[in-house]
Amino acid sequence: MVQRKPLVAGNWKMHYDPTEGVALVRELRRRLVGLAGVEVAVFPSFVTLPAVAAALPPRGPIAVGAQTCHWERQGAFTGEVSPWMLRNLCEWVILGHSERRQQCGGAGQGGYESDERINRRVHAALAAGLRVILCVGEPLTVRERGETGDFVAAQVVVGLQGLAPAEVANRLVIAYEPIWAIGSGEAANGTSANWVAGLVIRAAVASRWGRTAAERLRVLYGGSVSQSNAAEFLVQPEIDGALVGGASLQADAFAAIVKAAAGC
Ligand code: PGA
Repeated sequence: MVQRKPLVAGNWKMHYDPTEGVALVRELRRRLVGLAGVEVAVFPSFVTLPAVAAALPPRGPIAVGAQTCHWERQGAFTGEVSPWMLRNLCEWVILGHSERRQQCGGAGQGGYESDERINRRVHAALAAGLRVILCVGEPLTVRERGETGDFVAAQVVVGLQGLAPAEVANRLVIAYEPIWAIGSGEAANGTSANWVAGLVIRAAVASRWGRTAAERLRVLYGGSVSQSNAAEFLVQPEIDGALVGGASLQADAFAAIVKAAAGC
């Protein structure tokens, strides 16, 4: 069986200016000294990212990423950031986060955060040398209709279209974040998240990109992960870490989740 190293990612969303962000990562570093067996990454805003990256040693235990990027290398896209601008600053980028899918121009066909456009962002980010956390997850209405499997599988298949199996296995992570669980305090339960991670996401990847890629791909759970419920998700065999929003804003809570992922 393939051993997948857990990843705990902290999505800071629109919180913390450079001074606050640097203070948080300094405190995190202090709390995570000597920790092994887990990867950690934080995702500040574009404004805060350079200061946070500069405050951390390159290739150190805490990596840095951006919260989105554009699909073009450059051009007339006011307010946007190209992955080629990010590549010397950080290692990762989150793409397809549900808050962007919902708030930035519509998720439907042709929308700014449609699966097709997210797929273009994924290709651009990988071409620029970044690693990607691709977010997928169903809204409550889809869940209530019992259509979570088909909905999430389609997001995966379109989001990864055109990628080589090695890119899926090595350069990319999928975060399963049921939309109703994000920021709501109402997390999914471990068993149902494990089902989506394994029998929906990994199965969709296996059918298109092969079993080897599917077995190597890391799948995270996200949505109201806290230090008190993290273990319920992290013990699941198909779940390889967490994408944490609110609880990543406090060093003690985030460090506790990282330690749970490392098994200590
Ligand atoms: P939450 O956010 O942990 O605050 O629910 C998760 C996310 O949006 O990635």
